[in-house]
Amino acid sequence: MPRRFLEIHDMTRQEAHGVVNRAIEMKQSRFRSELLAGRTLALIFEKASTRTRVSFEMAVRHLGGSTIYMTQNDSQLGRSEPVEDTIRVLSRYVDGVVMRTFEHSKLTRMWAKTSIPIVNALSDDFHPCQVMGDVMTMVERGADLAKTKVAWVGDGNNMAHSWINAATYFPFELVLACPEGYTPNKDILDAGIKAGGKIRLVTDPLEAIRGAHFVNTDVWASMGQESEAGERMGVFQNYQVDAKAMALAAPGAKFMHCLPAHQGEEVTTEVFESEASIVWDQAENRLHIQKAILEWVYSGGEGTLPYTLAEI
Ligand code: CP
Ligand code: NVA
Repeated sequence: MPRRFLEIHDMTRQEAHGVVNRAIEMKQSRFRSELLAGRTLALIFEKASTRTRVSFEMAVRHLGGSTIYMTQNDSQLGRSEPVEDTIRVLSRYVDGVVMRTFEHSKLTRMWAKTSIPIVNALSDDFHPCQVMGDVMTMVERGADLAKTKVAWVGDGNNMAHSWINAATYFPFELVLACPEGYTPNKDILDAGIKAGGKIRLVTDPLEAIRGAHFVNTDVWASMGQESEAGERMGVFQNYQVDAKAMALAAPGAKFMHCLPAHQGEEVTTEVFESEASIVWDQAENRLHIQKAILEWVYSGGEGTLPYTLAEI
């Protein structure tokens, strides 16, 4: 059975922990393998990307495989060929798809029509590879996740949703501060809380940041929301992460951002460029976590994973 990674919950809790540990190991050993030798993955990007595209291209190369990069503009996807048809054709050529798209349902619709693995490289609803990499970044810094508070400040967007999903698998406390009307999807939030995640939604950013060990934010207008940027600038103005807010966080707290950042909007340059900022480690870890995710995808079953699924 091929594996998919459209959301963090496509792994079991134990597998997610194993993948984070494995990524740290792979980073330390500068891991290379021939796991994907003779295999080619199509990278389909309907939105811009720097980190995700290049780190996936490199991850596949480090595992001995090759990639074909496609966008909607240079394929028939941009001329209304349905994703169901596209994936049925690609399935005859390539060994997997990594896709960045708008509607998350495009990924599930494709999955329903294929027998090759699909990995979500960001959709409007989720960014699972990024958040797995962010969990790795906290763990490699020695964070005891059971005693860790993570703040999410700003938009209840795709990143916030994946953080909620992660909070059901990893034992950190997650406090999200979002303005009314920009809160995370209620079903995703409720499911996260029901699944036992230590998750709270508040409106006051300082309540989320107070005592937090990791303070996360993201752009106020995500890709596809450009026309709302002006309005959002007003809505989010009290949600900027600045030095005064960071001073309320736990001693030694770190600032996190998936990037790209808009300095002077969601974060001040002072915080972004400070010692507390670990954004470049987060960016680097995309490479390592995606190697571990691809290994999980292509290892074909728990029994065949080349590592122990140690709990974090
Ligand atoms: N964080 C992230 O996904 O960056 P890109 O949009 O550059 O891929
Ligand atoms: N929320 C952002 C994340 C970018 C990596 C977006 O979707 O544009």
